[in-house]
Amino acid sequence: MTLPWRDRRGQFLPLKAAVFAAAFVPGIWYAAWWIAGEAGPRPVTEAIWGTGLWAIRFFLISLAITPVARMLQWPGLLLVRRMVGLTGLAYGLAHLFFYTMDQKFNLGTVLSEILSRFYLTIGFVALVGFAALGVTSTNAMIRRMGRWWKRLHWLTYPLIATIALHYFIQSKANVSEPVFVAGLYAWMMLWRALPMAWQRGVAAYPGLAVAAALSTVGIEYAWYSLATRINPWRVLASNQSLDFGPRPAHLVFVAGVVVVALVVARRIAARPGRAGRVAA
Ligand code: HEM
Repeated sequence: MTLPWRDRRGQFLPLKAAVFAAAFVPGIWYAAWWIAGEAGPRPVTEAIWGTGLWAIRFFLISLAITPVARMLQWPGLLLVRRMVGLTGLAYGLAHLFFYTMDQKFNLGTVLSEILSRFYLTIGFVALVGFAALGVTSTNAMIRRMGRWWKRLHWLTYPLIATIALHYFIQSKANVSEPVFVAGLYAWMMLWRALPMAWQRGVAAYPGLAVAAALSTVGIEYAWYSLATRINPWRVLASNQSLDFGPRPAHLVFVAGVVVVALVVARRIAARPGRAGRVAA
């Protein structure tokens, strides 16, 4: 078996070692917090929230790895994609564990709650889906499944959308954070829809920042009009100023602009110097 910090040939890779170590940080942080008695009167609820948040963050990071690797011309980054996805799965399973603990380990109650509450049903379906992707992520399974492996792992996209919906529903009135998550997801899916040549260039990235920000506004509007009694136009209007602080669409736009800056910097760094040009 290959250790997580080594490649297939058994060579030590600092990037893999760093990502492996980073995967434990949120868990150790919450455990230390809990042991120190600083997790408040409901530590199990805090653990449910914390593990859920970190699960969705690691899944989003795993989705971002392919675009970042291509934009920054850094193929070595792809080596940690599987590890990051599995970390998301581990936090997702811990999330279910703490939920079960909250129900005093009464599996009958857990099951009936999952069957009767829509947001738990979809969270559970997504977790089972991610577990299936995790089990089939070994090198042997990739070889054995051939082209079916790619088809199965395409499910990552709808599964992440499903947990974003789980996040929206449980957030009740204030959905700013899930809207932000949905906006980043929109950026990554729009990037995947671009032709390969555009992904490698620079010109499409400013447009992508604008398109992702507008998608975020659209998602926010859709949520408030379909799922709440709050006037969606007032929420929409709040995007026109910064009086109430930055809205999710502003943050998604800023993230898109940071990407533009990184892509431009990478392209400039990759250009051959004067000596290289003369030699060419
Ligand atoms: C991969 C699967 C899942 C992910 C990524 C996920 C993610 C999340 C996130 C991000 C939150 C919000 C945390 C916060 O507001 O700080 C949350 C809340 C929650 N999730 Fe999940 N979840 C998943 C599956 C499940 C499952 C299977 C269950 C239980 C059957 C579950 C039960 C809950 C509960 C009870 C809450 C808190 C609701 C509240 O505070 O009222 N989740 N989840």
